[in-house]
Formats: sequence, C-alpha cells, structure tokens
Amino acid sequence: MEAEVDLYEYQARDLFEAHGVPTLKGIVATSAVQAEEAAAKLGTPVVVVKAQIKTGGRGKAGGVKLAHSPAEAAEKANEILGLKIKGHTVRKVMVAEGADIAAEYYFSILLDRTKRRYLAMLSKEGGVEIEKLAEERPDALIKRSFSPLDGMTDTLARDMAYEAGFDEGDVAKLVPVFKKLYTVYTEEDATLVEVNPLVKTSSGEIIALDGKITLDDNAQFRHPEHRDLQDHGATDPLELKAQKMGLNYVKLDGSVGIIGNGAGLVMSTLDVVAYAGEDLSSQPKPANFLDIGGGANAEVMANGLEVILSDPQVKAVFVNVFGGITACDEVAKGIVQAYKILDSEGIEPKPLVVRLDGNNAELGRTILNDAHLPKLEQVETMDAAARRAAELAN
Ligand SMILES: Nc1ncnc2c1ncn2[C@@H]1O[C@H](COP(=O)(O)OP(=O)(O)O)[C@@H](O)[C@H]1O
Ligand SMILES: [Mg+2]
Repeated sequence: MEAEVDLYEYQARDLFEAHGVPTLKGIVATSAVQAEEAAAKLGTPVVVVKAQIKTGGRGKAGGVKLAHSPAEAAEKANEILGLKIKGHTVRKVMVAEGADIAAEYYFSILLDRTKRRYLAMLSKEGGVEIEKLAEERPDALIKRSFSPLDGMTDTLARDMAYEAGFDEGDVAKLVPVFKKLYTVYTEEDATLVEVNPLVKTSSGEIIALDGKITLDDNAQFRHPEHRDLQDHGATDPLELKAQKMGLNYVKLDGSVGIIGNGAGLVMSTLDVVAYAGEDLSSQPKPANFLDIGGGANAEVMANGLEVILSDPQVKAVFVNVFGGITACDEVAKGIVQAYKILDSEGIEPKPLVVRLDGNNAELGRTILNDAHLPKLEQVETMDAAARRAAELAN
C-alpha cells in the first residue's frame, strides 16, 4: 500500500543500464563465496564490494570496500554482510567493477509536487550527502525547475552544466547522460532519480557510480515488471499475494475475513466486527482489511476471496457491499463467479456472510439466493451481518 518504492542500488543500476546510462557491471551476492565468484566473473583488477541497503552513507559506515582479488572480495563481503548501518542489516552486497575516479559529481531529478514540475539538481562537488552540500555549499548546487511538457532538453542540460562550472569538453559528455537519466525518470515513472556520485574516470568517461531510484507506486499498473523490484522480505506472504493481484489488502490478527467496497466502508466494517466480537467467548476480531474498490468485478472478488480463504486464521468471511457505481447485482454475480473460480482451484469455502445494500440490492440478493452457494448466508443490515460473521468465527 506504500505510494513509493525505493530501489536498491543494484536495481537502479540495472534500470540505468537498460536505458543506456553508462554504469559499471555489478553482481549481487548474499555470501562470501558468491562474492568471490562474482569478482572472478567481473575479472577487473579492482572490484568494489557494496552493501545493498536502502540508505545512503554506506561508504562512511564501512559498507563500501575495495578488493584487489576474488579472495579479498570474499573477505570484504564477510565483513560487510551482517553489518548494521543506520538500522538496516546488510543481507546482500553488490560486487562491482572498480572505477578509476578522477572527479565525483552529483545529479538528480525529482518531482516538485507543489509546483507540479520537475526539479533537476547538479553539482561538481558530488560524493558527499546532498543535504550536507545544500546546507554548507548552497552555491555549488545548481537547481533548475522544469516542466514535464518540456522535459530535459539539450538547452537545459547544457545550461545547467555550464552554470555548475563544467568546461566545454565535460558539458558535451554530460548532456547525453542527463538526458538518458531523464528517460529513466519518465519511462520508469520515477519520482526520484539520483546519481551520487556521477564520476569522471581518469580516462575521461562519465559513469553513474551510485544510483538511487524511487518509483511511483501509483503507476505500477503500467509496469507489471516493477512488482519484482519490491522488497518482499518484510511483507506478509498473504500481503505479497494480494499485492501481486493488485488488491488493497492488509493482514490483521483476527479470524473474521473482511471484504468491502470503499476504504471508508471497510474501515467501519472493521469497527463493527470488532465490536460484535467483544460479546463472544473467543472474541473474534477482523482478519484483514480488503477494499475491492468501486469497480469490483468477479475476478477482483475471486482474487479477494482467494487471499482471505488462504489465511488459515480466517474462520468466517463478511462481505459488506454498498452498491454505488458498481450495482449490487454485479457484485452478486461476482460472488457467484468467484465461487466457481475457487471451486475450480480446489479452494474450500468458509462460512460467508453477505450484506448487500444500495443500488440494485434486491436484485443482487435474488441472484445469490438462486445460486444456492454453500456456506453463504445473507443478512440485511450491517450490524446484524457483522454479529453473524463474528458468531460463525467464534
Ligand atoms: N565502483 C566503484 N569504484 C570505485 N569507487 C567506488 C565505486 N563505488 C563507490 N565508490 C566510492 O565509494 C564512495 C561511496 O559509494 P556510494 O556508492 O556512493 O555509497 P554511499 O553513497 O551509500 O556512501 C563513492 O563516493 C566512491 O568514491
Ligand atoms: Mg552515494
């Protein structure tokens, strides 16, 4: 349910590479042995072992270390894996090619929500934390607000680079990199693309050495491939399953599964169920929050029921729908179809209490009655339905 997704450095690196931003090769490792293999595979005289955690300042905290052989890479990985940096435990490292750095710069593009514009920032003094730079050397940080309609034009890129103090040769190399980073920003639907440092090597190449990308979760429907980028480690397996189905689901501790349409209705359903449960011996509580939204069709209903029924803690389910844009007969048809889908998947139904109200409620109820679905009961009021669901879970 988060609105934004921060990527790991290695994921940002992959996206940079995919869009033609110059980067160095990197391989993820979760053990010293893997780090050694990665270093051997890269084959460069120097590799860098870098902690993969979602916070900056890794270098200073001992999370970025040079190694001059695969064996040394294994040693460094051993030191870094398990480190705790700013509250994040390192579970992965990236073994990357070592760069011969001549200078470190800073470049970023971010969303300026209040102005409804983008902001690009550039500094010749990269490598340090941006907050620190903005505070201590504000003049060294060039900021340019620009319209999404215009994008990162050649003129803007050149102006920024000259203003930051780059010479003509560097400007010519930087402009295409800024433009490619802007492509990453727009095509991946990011709200932040930050490169710190963007380096110039001793041979004069420009390379994005450390990248940070924040993706806009609201655009995820345009990027099914982004689902794999999310950090699943901390997420509940049911939430993960729901997330993959695009459902608005939060797992809770209780035994009464809840499905409703509209966040407000679902919130009050949770309250009513919790209240109804207080009078019962086992004090059943809501098992989840699940909002199937306004345009709930059969598939969404089936997906929702599937997630809820696969929660072993769930003893009964309460479907609470107030027909609006989606009329109750549509919802009823959705439930009927959901039963078919679940039956074909071999998922056992659990006691299900349905309350339909609002647009076409009568028709919806008739459809459900005629379908004779096992373990399904209809109750007309929300309070009574909540009580019945709590009783069934008790
Ligand atoms: N591939 C690399 N080759 C050489 N030096 C590197 C490489 N990656 C990072 N460094 C050095 O380590 C510093 C910190 O690394 P960075 O990736 O920016 O991590 P953080 O921002 O979390 O400290 C960089 O400023 C750079 O000097
Ligand atoms: Mg950095």
